[in-house]
Amino acid sequence: MPQINVIKGDITKIKVDAIVNAANTTLMGGGGVDGAIHRAAGPALYGACEKFHGCPTGEARITGGFNLPAKFIIHTPGPIWHGGDNGEDQLLANSYHNSLLLADKHLCRTVAFPSISTGVYAFPLERAAKIAIKTIKDFLPTANYVYQVTVVCFDDKTFTAYHSQPY
Ligand code: APR
Repeated sequence: MPQINVIKGDITKIKVDAIVNAANTTLMGGGGVDGAIHRAAGPALYGACEKFHGCPTGEARITGGFNLPAKFIIHTPGPIWHGGDNGEDQLLANSYHNSLLLADKHLCRTVAFPSISTGVYAFPLERAAKIAIKTIKDFLPTANYVYQVTVVCFDDKTFTAYHSQPY
């Protein structure tokens, strides 16, 4: 039975088939969860990302997990919040959907997401949580392999926002 979990924690410590990185379009690392994942994965991740020459917002690219407990890292640049009239909702849904598609294509059964775009990219938290959970819920019945998706929240307010969604 496919399942969605919401937990509080550090995504770099989670042992799943694939963790998702809230990247930027250069894929060359940054702060926040991107920085944490690059630090934990080690310098080889940088080289693995270079070959993509970036990634458009809402799309996803996959690399190995290197020094992480996860087998794969899926990198997706979420949208930067510009007030909500620039297709941000759809782009955020695309980031979740395309990451899940890529995970499924790589035979992943378990996937962990951070709260994409709600940090530096300033996407409103409740609105993002609603889009994230709905996109994950809509995807699961169509998956061939992915059956467990965990949202790993780094702080209490993020946990509350996701945990209060119907999942
Ligand atoms: N584990 C899980 N979640 C984390 C971790 C971690 N180790 N570190 C940070 N987070 C959380 C943040 O608290 C926030 O809730 O990830 C969420 C996303 O925040 P950001 O990392 O700022 O990502 P985002 O808002 O998508 O902005 C992306 O920030 O780091 C840069 O290179 C990145 O330019 C890109 C931009």
